[in-house]
Amino acid sequence: MQQDVTVIEHPLVSTLLSRLRARDTTPGSFRRHLHEISRLIAFEATRGLGTRKIEVETPVATADGTELLRPVVLVPILRAGLGMLNGIVDILPDAQVGHIGMARNEDTHLPETYYCNLPTDIATADVLLIDPMLATGHSSAAAADQLKARGAKNLRFVCLVTCPEGVAHFSERHPDIPIVTAAIDERLDENAYIVPGLGDAGDRYFGTL
Ligand code: URA
Repeated sequence: MQQDVTVIEHPLVSTLLSRLRARDTTPGSFRRHLHEISRLIAFEATRGLGTRKIEVETPVATADGTELLRPVVLVPILRAGLGMLNGIVDILPDAQVGHIGMARNEDTHLPETYYCNLPTDIATADVLLIDPMLATGHSSAAAADQLKARGAKNLRFVCLVTCPEGVAHFSERHPDIPIVTAAIDERLDENAYIVPGLGDAGDRYFGTL
């Protein structure tokens, strides 16, 4: 199956991403810009959500209306995924939020889940898995495994920046999950950082540099 990858092309998205990339962007501005761009990315990531027709009583008459077919569940991968959450909740205020914590096992070098708290109705929801940097793709793919093991069927992966290696690994493991991103950068470096990227998104967002 050909992977469904959407790279958002929009002047507001590319302007905000440039500010996030700049090394001299202060932690306060980084936070604000990440909230703003996450809102725009979520707008694009939710474009194809299923809807159904409803009737709405306006103060004047009955109008044809629309509502989402399924509840929406947001699942940030800890910790950096939290940086995108507030912006996404801005446009999906009724969404439920689950959390998945992934850490690298220093012996096997594979990602392991240290925390997983998901809403019970994940199987009937539209699920957005959130991580700003799709780098090696290992932890994102493992998180998607967890969601599928809990019955999630309608999944999308939302990120800020990825690279060919990340897309290749994730799409090999989960060819059915569309990816929505603001950029596909050049490559990964020897420390698994995206080049040119923006550095460590979690550290920049939480001010732990
Ligand atoms: N995680 C980050 O925060 N940045 C990268 O470049 C790669 C992984």
